Amino acid sequence: MSDLGFDNKVAIITGAGNGLGRSHALEFARRGARLVVNDLGGLVDGSGGSTGPAQQVVDEIIALGGEAVANVESVATPEGGQSIVQSALDTFGRVDILVNNAGILRDKAFHNMTVDMINAVIDVHLRGAFYVTHAAWNHMRNQAYGRIVNTSSNSGILGNFGQANYGAAKMGLVGFTNVLALEGAKHNIKVNAIAPVAFTRMTADLMPELEEKLQPEKVTPAVIYLAHESCAVTGETYSVGGGTISRYFVGLTDGYVNEHLVAEDMRDHLDQIRDETGYQVLRNNGQELKKLFSKLT
Ligand code: NAI
Repeated sequence: MSDLGFDNKVAIITGAGNGLGRSHALEFARRGARLVVNDLGGLVDGSGGSTGPAQQVVDEIIALGGEAVANVESVATPEGGQSIVQSALDTFGRVDILVNNAGILRDKAFHNMTVDMINAVIDVHLRGAFYVTHAAWNHMRNQAYGRIVNTSSNSGILGNFGQANYGAAKMGLVGFTNVLALEGAKHNIKVNAIAPVAFTRMTADLMPELEEKLQPEKVTPAVIYLAHESCAVTGETYSVGGGTISRYFVGLTDGYVNEHLVAEDMRDHLDQIRDETGYQVLRNNGQELKKLFSKLT
């Protein structure tokens, strides 16, 4: 089988100055893609900013014989999103791949979480992905080609104490992925998500002993495949870390039906309602309606 190459493809990676984004950028470049390396260059909590990290990754790519340009705008405003996509158009004339990866943390138990902490995290992760994707979307539609990889997290899919802001934003990205996959299907735009586990500056305090096993480079192969022309899936979310790849899915239990349903029925049939035997994995809300109507007489 041939290697997955990216000749003539232009990729934008947000937050590519450090950690996972940097690893993705270097690997895309090694495989022939031309890159926009976006990074605001701030701290893990999103404060500050510097041209350093993005330019450093661009310099590394160029030193290895690749092609890349730095963009240091924030993903968290519509203008930033436009500017990032414009960098790709101005420098390389097109955009084929977008990896929404930029991220920050402002953890706090919900009762102590301020409005600023809520807004900053949702602005970068969720609105940021909307803004950059929105600026790229019509170019992808017009050329009938696009690959988008969003970066979700098990903190949203499964929940994590102290991350209501981050978890909600990251689960929002799963919904964003699902809807864009449907809207992009007839334009050959595939949209998938990863929920990575990696040792980076963001997680260094949480799992210091796992640095060696959880290198960002072990997440990048999934992003490369999902961004490749030959990617066979869309609207899916993959857990990736340390060399493991698994698919997350949402299951719907067979449940309980009673056309005269009252609140007491839920209390009395909770085990049956929650029973995972015979669950279904549905692909869109039309399939749920079909299941629902099939239960009604
Ligand atoms: P990191 O902190 O090393 O990288 C994030 C990058 O995003 C930084 O270089 C930062 O400057 C940049 N950034 C932050 N705000 C930005 C903005 N407004 N505009 C442009 N760039 C901005 O962290 P890491 O771990 O590489 O995170 C990458 C993505 O993966 C994030 O979305 C994170 O939430 C997600 N993630 C990481 C996990 C892990 O285990 N490391 C687990 C689950 C999700």
